[in-house]
Amino acid sequence: MAIQFPDYIEKLKPYIAGKPIEETQREYGVKNVIKLASNENPLGPSPKAIAAIKASLKSLQLYPDASGFHLRSTLAQYEKVTFNEIVLGNGSNEVIELLIRTFCIPGDLMVTSDSVFAAYPISARIQGVDTIFTRMTQDYRFDLKAMLVQIKKNPRVKLVALPNPNNPTGTYVPDSELIPFLREVEKIRKGSVHVILDYAYWEYVTAKDMSNPIRFFKEFSNVSVLKTFSKIYGLGGLRVGYGVMRPELASYVQKVRMPFNVSSPGLVGAQAAMGDLAFVKKSIQVNRAGMKVMSQFYKKEGIPFLPSQGNFFLINTRQAFGMDGGDIFIEFLKKGLIFRPVTNYGMPEWLRVTVGTEAQNKIAMRAFQKLK
Ligand SMILES: Cc1ncc(COP(=O)(O)O)c(C=O)c1O
Repeated sequence: MAIQFPDYIEKLKPYIAGKPIEETQREYGVKNVIKLASNENPLGPSPKAIAAIKASLKSLQLYPDASGFHLRSTLAQYEKVTFNEIVLGNGSNEVIELLIRTFCIPGDLMVTSDSVFAAYPISARIQGVDTIFTRMTQDYRFDLKAMLVQIKKNPRVKLVALPNPNNPTGTYVPDSELIPFLREVEKIRKGSVHVILDYAYWEYVTAKDMSNPIRFFKEFSNVSVLKTFSKIYGLGGLRVGYGVMRPELASYVQKVRMPFNVSSPGLVGAQAAMGDLAFVKKSIQVNRAGMKVMSQFYKKEGIPFLPSQGNFFLINTRQAFGMDGGDIFIEFLKKGLIFRPVTNYGMPEWLRVTVGTEAQNKIAMRAFQKLK
């Protein structure tokens, strides 16, 4: 019997993850590999998180606390919101999925931009939700006016996805554009269109015209904020993220969420990482220094790049080297350097380069110089 899959599952294009270090070693026979492909923290995990995770291992026979009591309490205090406004996810990716599942039925729509973080359209499609992509502005930023037109025009739009800054572009929406947009969206169809503000890179942001997104969660009735432990806290492998949302909405999302979606090492590791202020501070410093060095390098070498508020840059390899990002990616794998091609984001001529440690950045710069 031929199995019939839903049409939207047939059409699904899977998420393309950064190439793992071990796979690169295996396939290319290189020993020393540097991965600057997934916007990970080059300092590794917070040492306090490692200690807490180790201590938790002796109780692994027990299921985790399904309510995530301690971590949610700490997060509520940190974000200055209430316990019931926090929803934990297996990475913030899961919170994206949970929100779509909670809000949408097949046939509903999500509005976002071209080259948005890929988890959004994929999570939507898995649930039979199509995405309306608006074109980016000429300087590769989200076009909120165009989004507004689409939201108004299509009564089945339930969600708006705004990663800010966006990945892979690194570009951002300033408050001066975001606030009028949120005001307008709140008025549409009695506030039933929900806006996801994804601030995965918030701690890296230096732009003065970007506010802490919790402010928007408080000012608008239809806004959720997503954050993650995968970036500044160096815990991408642990899979912990969270959403801040209205308690009424959170109560629905909690029903959709499976009870043990965050493991017990995940719960304690994330909590300990939040208390490791020295590590967070160091991570911010290393990234700022690296962003400065890399942007100066790209300028000096005439490598076009997009200004970024994250821990990565998108560089135009076609203009700089006459090669698409995908081809350069393969060339560098042979040398033990993993970057991220973004052809799947409709940007074949670009390459995303995560900012690393000082030593890693030096190696990356030397490799680019040799290409010239
Ligand atoms: C904009 C954005 N949101 C969310 C995530 C997902 O993070 P997590 O590891 O918490 O699922 C990423 C990861 O790269 C991201 O770039």
